[in-house]
Amino acid sequence: MKVIEKTFEVTGAVSLLESQGKTVGFVPTMGALHEGHLTLVRRCAAENDVCVVSIFVNPTQFNNKHDLETYPRNLEADIKLLQSAGCDVLFAPSESEIYPEPDTRRFDFGTLDKVMEGAYRPGHFNGVAQVVSRLFNIIKPTRAYFGEKDFQQLAIIREMVKQYNVPVEIVGCPIAREESGLALSSRNQRLSAEGKAAALSISKALFGSVYLKNEKSVSELKAWVIDKINSDPMLEVEYFDIVDALSLESIENWDETDNAVGCVTVYCGDVRLIDNIQYGKFN
Ligand code: PAF
Repeated sequence: MKVIEKTFEVTGAVSLLESQGKTVGFVPTMGALHEGHLTLVRRCAAENDVCVVSIFVNPTQFNNKHDLETYPRNLEADIKLLQSAGCDVLFAPSESEIYPEPDTRRFDFGTLDKVMEGAYRPGHFNGVAQVVSRLFNIIKPTRAYFGEKDFQQLAIIREMVKQYNVPVEIVGCPIAREESGLALSSRNQRLSAEGKAAALSISKALFGSVYLKNEKSVSELKAWVIDKINSDPMLEVEYFDIVDALSLESIENWDETDNAVGCVTVYCGDVRLIDNIQYGKFN
């Protein structure tokens, strides 16, 4: 595996491979890699001639300084994991490589970036769009892989690619979970043992809600999930909404869409966890 820090070098290496007719798969990450990322990397390596991964903790997508400062970083361990998962090129740039000048672009994704995470983390998705569009421009991948855990992020990246005609295929990959059901996240590293045990209530409530979907209205089910999670004293729901999977608009009745998805954000102490469940997949 090649580790490249410079933009011109990675662009050169990848364009040479593409000129030889090779497909290039890309997995953008912020490091602190876990099995969820490695699932994306293995799939990327299996489906493409070359697998490129980036590690860059993007400052423009953090609207909270504390969150940026405490975001886990462990490049040495990440390199070992990527080698064993089949990554060919790791692009690990500095901030000045990605942002030689401040990025002042403002994206507009309509409703997609205004609701849920967009409402609670103003500017977050603009920062994600800034960095992902730059990375796409540097790497020019054939395919790019994103986890469905960040359901709203995936919808926004699809929209960005559509709006700007970026020639890349976006591949969404199912949420990787621990045996217990807990969605894998770099932030799980910051949970205490008690916090981690409490956090299991999140996926339990989401999976439980699937079985109640036919018995409860949308608003009753929302209240049920929120109560269930909040009944653990270590957890506090920031929001739980049930939305259409494409428009991300809240639904009021189940018959409004065949693809309803329930998206939740929960604080466990100062650790912010997200998860979601796609009701359409089970009904
Ligand atoms: O999902 C993430 O880890 C980040 O938002 C991404 C896509 C790597 C952009 O910084």
